[in-house]
Amino acid sequence: MIFITPILYIISAILFVFGIKQLSKATTARRGNATSALGMLIAIIATLVGHGFQFQWIIVGALAGAIIGVLASKLVKMTAMPEMVALFNGFGGLASLLVGWGTYQVVADAMGVGWGVPALDAASAAKFMDDIGGGFSAATIYLAILIGGITFTGSIIAWGKLSGVVTQKPVLFTGQNVVNFLIVLAILVGAVWFTVDPEQYWIAVVATGVALVLGIMVVIPIGGADMPVVISLLNSYSGLAACAAGFVIRNNLLIITGALVGASGIILTSIMCKAMNRSLGNVLFSGFGAAGGSTGGSAIEGEAKPMQPSDAYYILEAASSVVVVPGYGMAVAQAQHAVRELAEMLEHNGTEVKYAIHPVAGRMPGHMNVLLAEANVSYDQLVEMDSINPTMETVDVAIVIGANDVVNPAAREDEGSPIYGMPIIDADKARTCFILKRSMASGFAGIDNPLFFRDNSYMIFGDAKSTVEGLVTEFKESAA
Ligand code: TAP
Repeated sequence: MIFITPILYIISAILFVFGIKQLSKATTARRGNATSALGMLIAIIATLVGHGFQFQWIIVGALAGAIIGVLASKLVKMTAMPEMVALFNGFGGLASLLVGWGTYQVVADAMGVGWGVPALDAASAAKFMDDIGGGFSAATIYLAILIGGITFTGSIIAWGKLSGVVTQKPVLFTGQNVVNFLIVLAILVGAVWFTVDPEQYWIAVVATGVALVLGIMVVIPIGGADMPVVISLLNSYSGLAACAAGFVIRNNLLIITGALVGASGIILTSIMCKAMNRSLGNVLFSGFGAAGGSTGGSAIEGEAKPMQPSDAYYILEAASSVVVVPGYGMAVAQAQHAVRELAEMLEHNGTEVKYAIHPVAGRMPGHMNVLLAEANVSYDQLVEMDSINPTMETVDVAIVIGANDVVNPAAREDEGSPIYGMPIIDADKARTCFILKRSMASGFAGIDNPLFFRDNSYMIFGDAKSTVEGLVTEFKESAA
């Protein structure tokens, strides 16, 4: 039976790769999820087969995980998804840490250097050590503990910042860089020492504590608003930790899946940074977006013009093309269903409606796509930034719904602006631009938006859902 395990592992790995590929397109994403889940099922069966069906503890774990997973998928709100992913990453890191520790503990106890009771007799211990021992294994154990520990506490802090349990502001203190430098130095010295002499049990203990502290130290100086990028990076770390754990227990599939998660996490991180025109270093070390309220760049001239939904209705009613530009505020207001209803009214009236999707609109990758899909908006109507921008000058009305930074023309025009160079959706180029938000407040980047003061811009103040519902009512009443 054992020979089947590697074959099933290869099938699982292929399914994972295809699953990820399918996840890259909205139309195939659901299938991609199912493909990957099938890969995981085969992986679990293969592992059980490989271990002679000793599954009593695995069943307990699988049941507990399934119950928590089902409850989470039912209870966690769409806007809380980034927090949930943060927790997933954290527990992934903790799992790798425990795999590293579990393996080392058995070896250390067998060698008589651990602080536990030996679980193996001398002969089995010798064989086990023969299988697992050596500098390479010591290095992988150290890496699994280290990266797993950093990922665990880093993710818990990221979760805390997103959910408001931990302050969203960057936490900075005197001598922070010195402390971080000493921690990294201790980790490097420990790595060399432990690899050369794995019998130094205390090094593994200290390294675990230091890794847990380092996870906290690397995330607290980052502003809450940058957590999506941090979470994506921690996702990559959790993959690397799993990869190291795979080397520890010599499980090829864990090595492959860890590498896949590590690579995809870092690619997603770089896509997000590129879409904000910021470097990863800037995200990690600048405390961006935390100061709040700064104007940055040139002074803005002009006056914002408020408009009532009843007046906006007349312009929309006469429009032949409308582009909806959704942002974080649409998620907060949960306005997506009302938005789809408005779009249907417009289409019924002969207006062409499209949705312009900015890659970092909202607070997580694909945030707008997920919300609009939930409201049954057709994928064909979703147009990416690079495709919609060349057409914006021909659009009659752009309706900006709870978006701010991703439509800020300062990013295109004002070299002094902190977001200069960030690609934006050119809502300002439409013939008329409606901006639906509650106030003149700034967005995530904490800077003013000259779009609000343009001649062709009108502010429709209020909660986005109520405003859109108001517009829908206008259409319904005029049709009655
Ligand atoms: P933001 O610039 O954050 O603006 C959102 C706007 O929504 C706010 O100005 C707010 O104005 C409005 N709003 C909030 N609640 C509302 C409600 N109930 N009804 C109506 N409006 C409401 O959002 P954006 O344009 O989507 O840009 C996203 C930002 O996040 C970018 O700066 C991006 O770089 C950053 N970011 C995104 C990601 C990912 S992966 N998406 C990752 C890292 C950083 P009021 O308070 O006046 O209503």
